[in-house]
Order: sequence, then structure tokens, then C-alpha cells
Amino acid sequence: MAENRKDLLYIKDLSPSEIEEILCEGNKKREELNGGKKEWSSLRGKSVVTLFYENSTRTRVSFNNAAAFLGAYVRHVAAESSSIKKGESLDDTGYTLQAMGTDAIIMRHSISGAPKFLAERISIPVINAGDGTCEHPTQALLDMLTMKRHFGRIQGLKVALIGDIKYSRVARSNIAGLTKLGAQVSVFGPSTLIPPHIEAMGARVAASMEEALQGANVVMGLRLQLERQQKGLIPSISEYSKYFSINEQRLSLCEKDCIVMHPGPKNRGVEISDEVCMSERSLINDQVTNGLCIRMAILERLIGEKK
Ligand code: CP
Repeated sequence: MAENRKDLLYIKDLSPSEIEEILCEGNKKREELNGGKKEWSSLRGKSVVTLFYENSTRTRVSFNNAAAFLGAYVRHVAAESSSIKKGESLDDTGYTLQAMGTDAIIMRHSISGAPKFLAERISIPVINAGDGTCEHPTQALLDMLTMKRHFGRIQGLKVALIGDIKYSRVARSNIAGLTKLGAQVSVFGPSTLIPPHIEAMGARVAASMEEALQGANVVMGLRLQLERQQKGLIPSISEYSKYFSINEQRLSLCEKDCIVMHPGPKNRGVEISDEVCMSERSLINDQVTNGLCIRMAILERLIGEKK
């Protein structure tokens, strides 16, 4: 991360070399974790708050574990059970947490741009843990680490993102990061869920599932973001599953050694079959472990001893 970077808000802000450095540090953490290490001291005495205005399992718990493994105190603020419910504004919540000696805020919000808004108002680092349909930077970093560990490279990989692209912050962060590192990204889904600006970001819109999967090294399924969608974008879940689900038959179009990824939470039988989830191609659980390692790397870079 650039020496002067206070926050981690968007992949689009990072240079290719910063991304490579984070992947390298995340990989080092993964090797140490694989060797049984679960205790570091780089965040000893630091205090980290996870401030979540939206539900989460993976991102919240892995940030929690990452900070705890590095020696920090971690506190969670859920919007539903906090003074936010009494009308406290986002900036007042930030000033309050800052005044308590918090060293970093990890924040998820349903509104795109909310972490940036807070980061511009407080002096402590803000890490974007997913904002509306905008970005989910640590998800893309953990996804890139998973690909790099498996293939030894990102450059030249063909990556197919399948499903709800329009409402997916994971898709946006992955397109930004993967194209910076030289991967070719194709997207496919119902035409109502492919936003017009996606090609300007560097992704190719495939005309069919066959075209998207042909020769792919990585297939990533994306959940229907029903909580964000307007009504009437797909005829029915069963029809969606019939035409857009990632199943074994469709994967025969990909490269023989193709891997399957999914950021989670996944809806088995909707965007991805149960068989694919359980297959050897699936690196979904590996993504989760890499998430812990990437988040340790990010926390160290922003508030660790070296910083
Ligand atoms: N991938 C992801 O962001 O999962 P959670 O919503 O469980 O954090």
C-alpha cells in the first residue's frame, strides 16, 4: 500500500505493484497459518472496530480473527443493536469510535460510498468491507490470492464471472483488480443484470454461457443480490437456475484444470449446483482461509508496527 495511504476503500485506487505486494504478504501469512501459527504481535495494543450496517459472516468473522490473531482488541458494532437505531449519524458514530481510542474501523454499508464518506471525516483508517453495489476490495484481494496460489500467476488467466453482475460489488472489485494484473475477464448473466458500463471497466460481455466458459481457467459464480434488486429482473428463480447455474455439464467447456470460485454466501441449486460446490474444482473454502490471510496483511499495512 502506498506509504501515505490511510484507508483501504477501493481496488481501483491501488496500483498493480501495491496489489502484488498485498498478495505476497497475504501469501506469507497463509504459509505461516498452514504451518500452524495463529499468534502474531504486530497489532498488540491496537483496537479495531467492525462497524456493520449489513449482515455478514465471512468478512466480519475473518476480520475479527485476523485482528485477534495479530494481537489487537476487536469490538463489533452492529447497526441494528447500536445507537444508530436511535438516529445517530454515520459521522457522529465515527467520531465517537475514534474518541474511544479505536485505531481502525472496518465498515460495511448498504450505501455505495459510505466508507469513503466516513474516511474523509475521521483521522483513523477506514477499511471498506463492502459498500452497496460499489466495491468489496478485500474480497477481490482474497480471490486474486486464491487464483495466484493455484496457478502461480494472474497474468493471462481467463476468468468468467457468471450471474448478477449489476448489483455485485465483488464483480466490480474483481474486474478492477484482475484487469490491472493482466487477466482477461468475461461476464455473463441475464441481460437485465449486466450493467452497460461494465465493458468500460475492462470486462468483455459474453453473448452466451458457452462463450463465457469456453477456455476459462476460473469460473466465479455470483449470488443474485435480491436485497438490492428491483423487482421483475428475472422471471423466476427456477428459470434463472435452469439457464445461468454453474453445473458440471457446463464446466466441460472450460479448461480441464479450471477452478470454481464463489465469494459466498452461495445459494446451492440457484447460481451453482451442489455437485460443483463439493467437487475438487471448488476452491470456495480455500477462498475463506485466504480471506483471513489477506485481512491480516491489510491490517498490518494500515496499523501494524511497521506503519
Ligand atoms: N463474501 C462476503 O462478503 O460474505 P459475507 O457477506 O458473509 O461477509
